[in-house]
Amino acid sequence: MQTIRQLAPLRKAIAALRAEGTVALVPTMGALHAGHMALIAEAKVHARHVVVSIFVNPTQFGPGEDLATYPRRPTADSNMLREAGVSLLWMPEAATVYPAGFATTVSVSGVTEAMDGAARPGHFDGVATVVTKLFNQVRPDIALFGEKDYQQLAVIRRMAADLDTGIKVIGVVTQRDADGVALSSRNAYLTEENRVKARALPRALGEAAMTIEKGGDPAEAIAHARAAIERAGFEAIDYLDLRDAETLTADPAPDRPARLLVAARIDGTRLIDNLPVAPRG
Ligand code: PAF
Repeated sequence: MQTIRQLAPLRKAIAALRAEGTVALVPTMGALHAGHMALIAEAKVHARHVVVSIFVNPTQFGPGEDLATYPRRPTADSNMLREAGVSLLWMPEAATVYPAGFATTVSVSGVTEAMDGAARPGHFDGVATVVTKLFNQVRPDIALFGEKDYQQLAVIRRMAADLDTGIKVIGVVTQRDADGVALSSRNAYLTEENRVKARALPRALGEAAMTIEKGGDPAEAIAHARAAIERAGFEAIDYLDLRDAETLTADPAPDRPARLLVAARIDGTRLIDNLPVAPRG
């Protein structure tokens, strides 16, 4: 596995990989876990070469968020990627991604407006901008993202289509621990006690999704799920919404696939999760 930190050698290395076949990109912020490894495994199914980027993108963190403390484990990450058969690790410095004078923002409207877009102003501009840059730097044939960040996936799909990138964006199903909790680099912030309480999130989502699929009233199912999450010890629920699975608009038509999405805070740690809700009727 090659590890590259500068743009000129990246371009040369990518040209050599491309000469041998298709290239997949898995963008990450590091602190890799089994969720990332599932993205890489899926990438290998679709492409001859897998490129992984590790870049803790400052522009997607708001003031007071965890940019400074975000877990960074470059050596362990690099070993995991080598073992997984990744061809190239792209690990740019912040000054390479955002050189002096950088003045461009990629802003997606619509799908960014609610939920994390409302709770974290500027977050999706940061994500769309850095992913556009990574797409232009690596120019992959396909790119893979986890469904765990479902709204992010919708934003990136929109951006990739709108900007005619020609890159196929593939979403990969959320990886979970045996107790149902979605894998996330931010789970590292949880105490043992809060990690147990966190089980309430997928459990409440699962029950609500099942109730709605069976024809139950979405508002009632959501109220029930909110109460269960609060009872478990979460101090705040940023949102718990049923949305159209593709457009993320509220009040999805019952005959369309929907998604139930949640963000909630436990002892200051913000966890997100989501589940599909099949069309009803
Ligand atoms: O999901 C992430 O890890 C990040 O938001 C991404 C897509 C790598 C952009 O920084």
